[in-house]
Amino acid sequence: NDERIYQCSESIDRLPSKIKSLLLLAGEVGDELNQKVYIVGGFVRDLLLKTDNWDLDFVTEGDGIELARQLNHKIGGKLTIHEKFGTAVIKLPQFISIDIVTARREYYEYPAALPKVERSNIWSDLFRRDFTINCMAIALNQDNFGEMIDYFGGMKDLQDKQIRVLYNLSFIEDPTRIFRAIRFAARFNFTIEKSTCQYIEQAISANMLEKLSNDRIREEIIHIIREQDVLDKSLQMLNSFKIFKSLDPSLTINSMVIRKVKNVRFSLEGFRQLSSKPFNQTIVMLMQLISEVDTDKISEVLKKLIANETLVNSITQSMVKRRSVYEILSQEEVDRYTIYTALKPHSDEALIFFYNDSENPYVRHYIAFYKLKLSSIHIKITGKDLQEMGIKPGPIYKMIMDSVLKAKVLGTIYDRNGELEFAKQKYHRIKGGN
Ligand code: CTP
Repeated sequence: NDERIYQCSESIDRLPSKIKSLLLLAGEVGDELNQKVYIVGGFVRDLLLKTDNWDLDFVTEGDGIELARQLNHKIGGKLTIHEKFGTAVIKLPQFISIDIVTARREYYEYPAALPKVERSNIWSDLFRRDFTINCMAIALNQDNFGEMIDYFGGMKDLQDKQIRVLYNLSFIEDPTRIFRAIRFAARFNFTIEKSTCQYIEQAISANMLEKLSNDRIREEIIHIIREQDVLDKSLQMLNSFKIFKSLDPSLTINSMVIRKVKNVRFSLEGFRQLSSKPFNQTIVMLMQLISEVDTDKISEVLKKLIANETLVNSITQSMVKRRSVYEILSQEEVDRYTIYTALKPHSDEALIFFYNDSENPYVRHYIAFYKLKLSSIHIKITGKDLQEMGIKPGPIYKMIMDSVLKAKVLGTIYDRNGELEFAKQKYHRIKGGN
């Protein structure tokens, strides 16, 4: 092994004092237990990139759970222990999270399986990981605090701005790393090193993506689309490896889709001005991502991306209806009730999707108008009121209620008394035959 050791005390000195003391404390507790302790992975990478990252991953050559218990005794966070995996998590205020694991070796019983693990040392623990830039560690014990351990050339790859795997079967063993390679390359504006690219291509040709469960694919896609600033880069990379096609042959992502997915964030910002209700931006992005899929395939593709079946059905409905919604709303003059009935069946997420996807100024205007002025309109009278008027229950109730709602949306009535009066008149008109 080409073991390189650097000192990175200077980088550690630049950390907020709270984080630095956590690192020192972890080393002290390690010393008390006579265990080696390291901080590893994304934290180390981001420390060198001078990017904030308060997800601390500690690896210990020894008992991870005991280390977690002793450490938490001193810092008083919220400790969760996973006995079965020999891992523990400590949550602290201000979104600081500490993961503690026993150094382990991983092996895969078959490709794309979840790995089997056994206790090991720091070298094996780093070797089981994905990319060189994520495989660096910093020692925390007092005698070598701040010593950087870089067995696999992570520092050089950070300087060269490259994503590189440690061994050729990395993507075969864990195909989710294909998505991760793209996510990191896009996030840091790095390139995927040449052999690593070839390994990705080989894993895709060997249909390794098909071996992943929908849940795991979903998680990775969602991680990718959440990194909105670099979405065009990551989507283009996913496309150039033909990953969407491998996930589902009907999933076409062209440059228009990429542009629109990227625009979703601006549409969302606009919507936040109109409504204080929270909405799920991931759903909006997924809708836009699959917007070029043929209507009859939408539900099938969505099932791979969204676990909740009710949600899949409601999104499918909205997506299937979107063209007719655009047609109705793309006129200069549309009355309030037509706008209301066209948009009422759809969720906020669907409305934002329509807004973003249609790109038509009239459609956009009417959606904003609906959200601001019409969406909260509802009638106050109920069947009980009609009963009290002496109207016999039957289909006539719906006719009356519908016309009250229409009058309310059109603005001809506005309060409960108006509704009661209008209902009465409508009843008499129906009875009178007009
Ligand atoms: N890891 C891996 N293979 C995976 C997932 C994770 O080898 N499929 C390793 C990587 O070494 C990574 C560490 O586990 O550094 C922690 O994973 P995660 O928290 O997902 O990664 P981070 O690098 O911290 O990424 P992010 O900045 O997105 O949180």
